[in-house]
Amino acid sequence: MARRPMRTIVAGALLFVGFTASSLAAGDPARGRELATALCGRCHATGPAGASPLPAAPPFRTLKERYPIESLAEGLAEGLVTGHPAMPEVQLEPAAIADFLAYLGSL
Ligand code: HEC
Repeated sequence: MARRPMRTIVAGALLFVGFTASSLAAGDPARGRELATALCGRCHATGPAGASPLPAAPPFRTLKERYPIESLAEGLAEGLVTGHPAMPEVQLEPAAIADFLAYLGSL
């Protein structure tokens, strides 16, 4: 019983290290692709070719031509809102943003 708090602290520290490492890492494009497909794919073309299901939504492969990647990162962290009512507000965790941008960069 007396050892329990200690274990909790160790687990917490490991989680923290894991989180810090993953948010500093370059991001995993494969996870980013899953994210983009699952969250954004019903409107945006998320692959290397093809038109968006919703024509008003820009294909993701064009985003990096239109925006500096860092400004997208900021928007995704703070909540990305566009002037278009069809585009839902988007807000992602730092690790998810790294993955997402790694995928965008790979397109
Ligand atoms: C329900 C449809 C829909 C979904 C789901 C959606 N979008 Fe969009 N998105 C749009 C539309 C429509 C536009 C065009 C907005 C405009 O031109 O103002 C857009 C524009 C954008 C833009 C460009 C903003 C600009 O100012 O030109 C980005 C970046 C973007 N979306 C990211 C995302 C991301 C990331 C996701 C998933 C996490 C996502 N969108 C999910 C409909 C959607």
